[in-house]
Amino acid sequence: MADNPDNLDDSRRRFLGIATGATGAVAGAMFVVPFLGSLVPSKRAQALGAPVEINIGNLETGQMARKQWRGRTVYVVRRDEEMLKRIENTTPQVADPDSAESEQPDYASNGFRSLKPEFLVVFGQCTHLGCAPSQRFEVAPPDLGQDWLGGFFCACHGSKFDMAGRVFKGVPAPLNLPVPPYRFIGEDVIEIGTETGAA
Ligand code: FES
Repeated sequence: MADNPDNLDDSRRRFLGIATGATGAVAGAMFVVPFLGSLVPSKRAQALGAPVEINIGNLETGQMARKQWRGRTVYVVRRDEEMLKRIENTTPQVADPDSAESEQPDYASNGFRSLKPEFLVVFGQCTHLGCAPSQRFEVAPPDLGQDWLGGFFCACHGSKFDMAGRVFKGVPAPLNLPVPPYRFIGEDVIEIGTETGAA
């Protein structure tokens, strides 16, 4: 004879309640675990996004080094006193002199767009359509004219940037070269992509 629900005693009610709850919990766990798993970045993704170090001990003034981080090229330039003076001279000619519209960490929101004036760290990616600007640190080369005080030139469509990566007025690129997060982790080592902020 079928059980009348009204006749179920308390212990059977408890058993059924526990069994139903357990089934729901298992089903929930089966759903949640793969869902959580999909939120955990793969080791490869983590490695791609991890900070990278660049040794600048052998970088001489006027030289530039490159480092890949998150699939993008980062330029590191060692600037001398002359280059720093020229940055001040180009200020009236650049579109965003205070980098108000451009992308950089707070600690690089200054006239030299850097933690230490001597070192510029920027993405080597033109803010127009993403070409790699070339280093043109010489003064007044024939192809860039007598007024050229050194900087970066994007050959794709002619955008020009000064020695702080600030874009000149009247070129296709709208913004200064972006500055990635970085910090010094020693006299001669820069960590690019640091999560912990500047040191
Ligand atoms: S991509 Fe650099 S000027 Fe167009």
